[in-house]
Amino acid sequence: MPLFVRTLPTLAIAALAMGAQAQGVVNALCSTDAPWCEAAAAAFTRQTGIKVNQAHKGTGEIGAQLRAEAQNPKTDIWWGGTGDPFLQAAEVGLLDAYRPAYINDLHEWSVRQYAMSGNQVGGFYTSTIGFGYNTELLKKKGLPEPKCWADLIKPEYKGEIEISHPASSGTAYTVIAGLVQQMGEDAAFDYLKKLHRNVTQYTRSGQAQAPNVAKGEVAIGVTFAFNFEKWKHDKYPVKTAAPCEGTSYEIGGIALVKGARNKANAQKYYDWLMGPAGQAIGATVGSYQTPANRTFKPDPRIPAIDSVKLIKYDFEKYGKSAERKRLIDRWTREVEALPK
Ligand code: F6P
Repeated sequence: MPLFVRTLPTLAIAALAMGAQAQGVVNALCSTDAPWCEAAAAAFTRQTGIKVNQAHKGTGEIGAQLRAEAQNPKTDIWWGGTGDPFLQAAEVGLLDAYRPAYINDLHEWSVRQYAMSGNQVGGFYTSTIGFGYNTELLKKKGLPEPKCWADLIKPEYKGEIEISHPASSGTAYTVIAGLVQQMGEDAAFDYLKKLHRNVTQYTRSGQAQAPNVAKGEVAIGVTFAFNFEKWKHDKYPVKTAAPCEGTSYEIGGIALVKGARNKANAQKYYDWLMGPAGQAIGATVGSYQTPANRTFKPDPRIPAIDSVKLIKYDFEKYGKSAERKRLIDRWTREVEALPK
């Protein structure tokens, strides 16, 4: 035992022990960009002394992990990532209800997620699906810049498009569920089969497309459009398009896990992430989603989404576990299995 503790009066020792205990740990899973996950955990620990044990994985992957952990939960809080897998986790009883005191500070689209899920899922941010492309690569190949979903299935783009895999990536599920709502299910699957011929690879996460396009590893990426902004600002030859026919969008999630061992610390981390400090940190590391908290001035680099033609995304229906499983199974059977 260090000398200074040995010489403290008993009460002070008790207070010290309680203080150390009160700080403790929180076990977190994070599905937004890794730099945001890391920067948030570090800043929270600096400000509170609470240690954050945090892993970064795709939204679909974490949904599956929480199911596997259900009998013996190891996670206290899950934050960032597309909202559908959060709503699915709520539906199958993996999350705890939490209605933060500052709910009136949040945008209406965020509050709606609380209402829809019996307060189990909060809306953390929003952003829209689009395309990003490498202008130099397209020019070199003599290919036009894509503007519409219809462009992406043209034979000239064979081997030029990258997208993520819907089993692991919440981004890919948002694309597929969006096209189903937009085109009707059979027409959407016909479209996805045609798109498959042009896809070079299905990545594990929707966070891969922007760096791959910016570095010229692939010409076109389909993902949340804001992902490309950081690369544009860093002067890479990248442009984005909001699909001319309309597109889907996410309301990213945040939730407490049922049976959390460090519930009080998980609530502190949740409150901090939803407050101005946690919400503003994303843009400082290149994550330009629109934040849910409207009490601070958002970073001017966040792309405006009011000019994007959005579909009326049915979070209730496509946030159901059976619907997700059905669509992903159909996609695996009818699309992924096809030769290119
Ligand atoms: O890049 C961040 C982000 O695009 C989020 O906006 C989205 O919620 C999340 O990644 C989805 O990641 P994944 O496709 O790995 O589930």
